[in-house]
Amino acid sequence: MSKRVYIMSAVANTFENVKAVILSAHKNTTSTDKVSFYNSWAENYDQDVAVLDYRAPTLAANCISSHFSGDREGAVVLDVACGTGLVATQLKKLGFGKFVGVDGSKAMLELARQSGLYQDSKQIMLGEEPLPIQWVDSFDVVVIVGGLSFGHVPPAVVRDLCKSTKPGGYICMTTRSNQDNLEYKGFLDSELRQMENEGLWTCVEVTEVENWERAVSEHEDGYISGAVYLYKKL
Ligand SMILES: C[S@@+](CC[C@H](N)C(=O)[O-])C[C@H]1O[C@@H](n2cnc3c(N)ncnc32)[C@H](O)[C@@H]1O
Repeated sequence: MSKRVYIMSAVANTFENVKAVILSAHKNTTSTDKVSFYNSWAENYDQDVAVLDYRAPTLAANCISSHFSGDREGAVVLDVACGTGLVATQLKKLGFGKFVGVDGSKAMLELARQSGLYQDSKQIMLGEEPLPIQWVDSFDVVVIVGGLSFGHVPPAVVRDLCKSTKPGGYICMTTRSNQDNLEYKGFLDSELRQMENEGLWTCVEVTEVENWERAVSEHEDGYISGAVYLYKKL
């Protein structure tokens, strides 16, 4: 069934078809299922998320850009759950020059590699495997866009993202604020606060965005809301 919907979207690419593709994956509740779904969606991902008016990569890149005051060309950005490379594409436009990508989906990562933007990339299943120990205190910026939601990357992984950031570096994260993701967002918000209480990082900015992307679930219309978080490692 999901394969048939996928082929329809390759031909027509209408909002209804993209919605059907995404709804076909809602039954996939484990990260492994979700990553298999992304393997099958990879070729159509960029054009399909454009139909959804998916602006999270641009919003996150603009947030990082408005606070980052160092050497952009020289800064190394770790793009976690990088997918096909939409976040690095936006950051590159804003002057950032060096990217390392991580994703659990082989097919998404292959497209990121083909973009030529990443100097290194690794296939890692977050929540099951840690980021490499050699990456501790290494990156000027760590960003995760579209990965922190139910069935994707578990909230506790944000500790690993903080560990891989240089002291004084930034961690930028996004999540959805719609009904389906509210429980996940609650866990995420409490982990972010807990880490601030532990003196690991400080919150620089949290922006709630109303028109995050077009709604696809059966009980939502119009646009769903989302949030961009920016933290600075202490
Ligand atoms: C919505 S896409 C976002 C991709 C990209 N950051 C963007 O904004 O276009 C979510 C990505 O997270 C990856 N992903 C989901 N769960 C994961 C996990 N547990 N470990 C690693 N990657 C995961 C998927 O393979 C997919 O590429």
